[in-house]
Amino acid sequence: MTLKTTLLGNGFAVEFAGIDLAHIDDQTFAEVRDLWMRHKVAVFRDQVLSDDELVSFTERMGPLFVHVRDQFRALDRPEIMYISNIEDDGRPLGALGNGDLHWHSDQTYTKRPVFGTILYAIEVPSDGGETWFGDLAAAYAAMPADLRKSVEGRKACYSIEKKSIERRYETPQYQKDQAPDQWHPLVRTHPYLDRKALYLSPSHMNGIDELSFEDSEAEVARLQDWSARPEFVYKHSWRPNDLVFWDNTSIMHRRDGFPSEQRRFMKRTGFHLPEELGVPF
Ligand SMILES: [Fe+2]
Repeated sequence: MTLKTTLLGNGFAVEFAGIDLAHIDDQTFAEVRDLWMRHKVAVFRDQVLSDDELVSFTERMGPLFVHVRDQFRALDRPEIMYISNIEDDGRPLGALGNGDLHWHSDQTYTKRPVFGTILYAIEVPSDGGETWFGDLAAAYAAMPADLRKSVEGRKACYSIEKKSIERRYETPQYQKDQAPDQWHPLVRTHPYLDRKALYLSPSHMNGIDELSFEDSEAEVARLQDWSARPEFVYKHSWRPNDLVFWDNTSIMHRRDGFPSEQRRFMKRTGFHLPEELGVPF
């Protein structure tokens, strides 16, 4: 079967047409997975999935991920996390509110970070709330020699709580205990492809090698400025029933804020790499 696809942004993200993710055969699934890995961000419009279908699609992609921030899980479905600004009786229904979210890659502060993240839009605001994706493999490949030299062979410290960042909510101690700081390579090799990418997560990084925090922040800012250049970025404007998933080994992402009186409700799942490939290398 030849899939109907359109390249988005600067050609790294791919939109699929004519696919119902709740019911795809094995061959189509394999082609989708392959194209997704090559293009790093996959976009599907007009998807209708029950929670069971969302979880079972996620599980076809890889072992299910369960988020350490357990206060935002769906009650009967720990694999589904709600991302929302909606409050129910004064209690937030989901995580992350309505503000801007800074560039990051998901759960870099864990030993085996989540491979792919799936975001399924139920309600979206009419203003703002876009998700921006930065292609860290293209950014790495195009690096000038001096910048590349500054990242080769280095490691960075990734933390669930970055120093000196304004917090949306406190991280309970038991969650910090479950997610101690991790040192990962600053240049990451894709587990299935002959491809390297910066492993950049400015919202989580607390240091590079022996650099002081301030020097490391300056270096992270320099790498972020390089990687967020327009030629490496795709901005996704959400419609209800969009389903988007991305490869955290090769992509960073961020979100624009949106007006607090508008509602945004997304369901998020994630999938791991097999255990032997899960630790970044
Ligand atoms: Fe994220």
